[in-house]
Amino acid sequence: MKDVRILVFSGSTRSGSFNTKLADVVARRVDAAGAQATHLSLADYPMPIYNGDMEANEGVPEAAKALKAVMQEHHGVFIASPEYNTSVSPLLKNTLDWVSRLSADGEPAAAAFKNRVFALGAASPGALGGIRGLMGLRTIMEIGYGALVIPDMATVPGAASAFDDQGGMTNERTAGLLDAMVQRLIAEAALRA
Ligand SMILES: Cc1cc2nc3c(=O)[nH]c(=O)nc-3n(C[C@H](O)[C@H](O)[C@H](O)COP(=O)(O)O)c2cc1C
Repeated sequence: MKDVRILVFSGSTRSGSFNTKLADVVARRVDAAGAQATHLSLADYPMPIYNGDMEANEGVPEAAKALKAVMQEHHGVFIASPEYNTSVSPLLKNTLDWVSRLSADGEPAAAAFKNRVFALGAASPGALGGIRGLMGLRTIMEIGYGALVIPDMATVPGAASAFDDQGGMTNERTAGLLDAMVQRLIAEAALRA
């Protein structure tokens, strides 16, 4: 296979985060499928809450510039997004909003979200698996940032018992949907490699 690089990250930095576990499963499946996964933690890209005065006076944080650069080194990006009150975690929204402010000379607006393909997933202890938050995130990604997001999504309900100790999943149906999403993400990313 061509050198297809997939970036994976979670919208939670909580220790024991279910979404970080989901991101880890996706990274393993990406590697197993012959592409190259990079799993980063947003804890390594700390940013203040967005403030327009701060942006005007100090510019966009270095961490946002670094994350943009990493995103642009990859052909596909998977985001595991915690559902907070039917929506996106503040950490994820703030991080992506800062990154969306960046475009170098000659680049389109929100450049990190262009020329690559995105896939979304969520893990929740609840029965709906975070799907409501993903509907909001899809709107933000597609309408807000102009990103291409594949239709397939990986949702993990009952997340407290969904992951095994070997980096796999306990529910075959959930694992099957996740695999289908990974395959499609890699196929779409390969078109951009
Ligand atoms: C402020 C807040 C709101 C939440 N709202 C929802 C919700 O709407 N739907 C849901 O399934 N879980 C909700 N949860 C539970 C999260 O899904 C749960 O805390 C999950 O473990 C967070 O993701 P993480 O494990 O990756 O940190 C909420 C949690 C918090 C802290």
